[in-house]
Amino acid sequence: MEKLVIHGGNRLSGEVEISGAKNAAVAIIPATLLAQDICRIENIPNISDVSCMVRILSQMGAQIRYINKHTIEINTKTVNSYIVPHEMTKQLRASYYLIGALLGRYSRAKVALPGGCNFGVRPIDLHIKGFELLGARATVENAMINASADRLTGSHIYMDKVSVGATINIMLAAVKARGLTIIDNAAKEPHIVDLANFLNSMGADVRGAGTDVIKIHGVNELHGCTYNIIPDQIEAGTYMVAAAATGGDVLIKNVIPKHLESITAKLIECGAQVTEYDDSVRVQSEGRFRRINLKTMPHPGFPTDMQPQMSVLLSVAEGTSLVSEGVWDNRFKYVDQLIRMGADVRVDGTIAVFQGVSELTGAPVKADDLRAGAAMIIAGLIARGVTEIEDIIYIDRGYEDYVEKLRNLGADIYRMEVRDEVKTENAG
Ligand code: EPZ
Repeated sequence: MEKLVIHGGNRLSGEVEISGAKNAAVAIIPATLLAQDICRIENIPNISDVSCMVRILSQMGAQIRYINKHTIEINTKTVNSYIVPHEMTKQLRASYYLIGALLGRYSRAKVALPGGCNFGVRPIDLHIKGFELLGARATVENAMINASADRLTGSHIYMDKVSVGATINIMLAAVKARGLTIIDNAAKEPHIVDLANFLNSMGADVRGAGTDVIKIHGVNELHGCTYNIIPDQIEAGTYMVAAAATGGDVLIKNVIPKHLESITAKLIECGAQVTEYDDSVRVQSEGRFRRINLKTMPHPGFPTDMQPQMSVLLSVAEGTSLVSEGVWDNRFKYVDQLIRMGADVRVDGTIAVFQGVSELTGAPVKADDLRAGAAMIIAGLIARGVTEIEDIIYIDRGYEDYVEKLRNLGADIYRMEVRDEVKTENAG
């Protein structure tokens, strides 16, 4: 097991290249099941969530060929089962996309309930409602979701709540359903649009992705394709905040600036400088910030997956900042770790009040989940002294080569093997 060691205080400067979008990749990989053909996917991020999803498809019988670190060929002709057992799905929350994809392929799916980040309740009632409206019978027994239909039929589905996962799962099940499916109050995240573009490259007919209403005309067959995944909006935002928080000057390359608009706006509001170019953004800062209020919302609002990272910057802004988590019911667990580093913050349900302090101080902390881990890295980069972060396996799930990328920007950060200290203490 490893931990991170960070000596804080270095300003980040230079250039960083953003990888492919994790949340697009973990939807597009299962979507390859919808065609009994070969798909070539480019700009795939080299992160453990992706390798985990690829492993699941391989265990289901798909033939996988890595052309290079970021390009993969998936041949699903040889997939021969609609059952995905617990030992496969427990490693990855996004494994529930296999339900929609297997329903689309076989009109049948039996998939173990997933694992994944733990910040509050993560229900799947909207997924199941969507499948049932498409004509499937869906039950949950022995922690397995069992869904089947004689023939999936298009339907008008109103989403009670904006849900990225449910929108994606319904799209996967609907592309080969008979007739027209309308998803009302659909999620509009960039990875929803990327999945729709991928499905259309396979011969599907998906319109309106990125708006509140997605219309899908079912087709009989889909075919393989070659597709290039969009850059990761959240990885890019994380480096933007890290650059600002350290008072640095960083060019973040291979991004779609439009996907970063809400992050750019908030960084400018609290005093950083952000310059947009065609496929990059430059972030400059003196390292001093005005307080702001922040509310996370579904896209195009400020992304919930950027809330922990931005909160670290606000913990050292001048004045009192209010952070309201509008998507998850318990996404402030990381605050306990931040308080160990000297932050002055109070949490009440989905609201956190940050009283800006002059500096954070290094401490031994842990990553509670993927984005909390990213936030702790930013805290370590700006803290006075040494910060050690444990449980970094969470961070490895969603950030490709982050230690190398940060070191190239001037950060003093490295991975260290965690010895089993209990044994050495007992060694006498
Ligand atoms: C996706 O999770 C992302 N994960 C999350 O990113 C992200 O935080 C979230 O979308 C919101 O953007 C992936 O894409 C793999 P939701 P998802 O369904 O799909 C409620 C990361 O760090 N809800 O949009 O699970 C739910 O409780 C991860 O990359 C229901 O009530 O999120 C939440 O309050 C962490 N019933 C809200 O909707 C349902 O059936 C939004 O959840 C489904 C969701």
